[in-house]
Amino acid sequence: MRKTIIVIASLLFPVLGWSAGGEAMFPNDDISVDWDDKESMQRGAALFTNYCLSCHSAAYSRYNRVGKDLGISDEDMSNNLIFTTDKYGDKTKVGSLMTTTMTIEYAEAAFGTAPPDLSLVARSRGTHWLYNYLRGFYLDDTRPLGVNNGVFPAVGMPHVLVGLEGLKKAKKEMKDDGHGGQHEVIVGFEQVSKGSMSTAEYDQAVKDLVSFLDYLAEPYKQKRQSVGTGVLIFLFFFLILTYMLKKEYWKDIH
Ligand code: HEC
Repeated sequence: MRKTIIVIASLLFPVLGWSAGGEAMFPNDDISVDWDDKESMQRGAALFTNYCLSCHSAAYSRYNRVGKDLGISDEDMSNNLIFTTDKYGDKTKVGSLMTTTMTIEYAEAAFGTAPPDLSLVARSRGTHWLYNYLRGFYLDDTRPLGVNNGVFPAVGMPHVLVGLEGLKKAKKEMKDDGHGGQHEVIVGFEQVSKGSMSTAEYDQAVKDLVSFLDYLAEPYKQKRQSVGTGVLIFLFFFLILTYMLKKEYWKDIH
């Protein structure tokens, strides 16, 4: 019994620890990615190639493979989602990897740190973090780019979706830090200039983008899930067959 309690406690511990740590960030809203919503992922792919690929790469994926998985034709992909050129100056081919044209040296000079490849970011950071990070930019004069982030303090990335979201100011309050001291936390945002989208539209756009990043990190997930269902159905019928066979064998013995 004691052993069981210890096992259960140790399983719960990381979960409890995570939720305690998660409270410090703002915003902190939940999101669940719908893997059957291909249209959302398609919109996310368009946002990604338009707004992110100039700095970040997704160097493990090819445009046409993404197109195949998400139902975007090669032609649409090439006309609407490819904006880069190859080393000969020709438009990047649809069979190419999703690399960025920005060099690491340039990026380090411009942002102080190179933008990481985003292929696996949905795994390393999680979709919850990403959803809040992309909605967490706020005005801050003390930062070199004029913005800070409630989820990633002192971030080196500019607010690239400002045209869609507009700009926000952070409302801050002093809170007990649990160790006898106090620290400043963000408790809300206030919109100071409008973007082309309403808050609800922007939240949906970010959800689309995060859904796409989630797909990117695990392109085989969908296939694996359908194979898994097939295996379970097979096992179920196999169980019935085995049972019938068992009855058949034991029939004469009883
Ligand atoms: C102008 C260049 C630029 C663009 C465009 C850009 N980013 Fe970034 N991004 C950066 C830089 C620089 C960092 C590193 C920030 C740091 O470490 O302080 C970064 C960091 C990130 C991180 C954190 C990665 C990690 O795990 O530390 C994520 C996630 C991210 N960007 C997502 C995006 C998405 C999604 C888009 C498109 C909407 C985008 N970025 C567009 C420059 C850019």
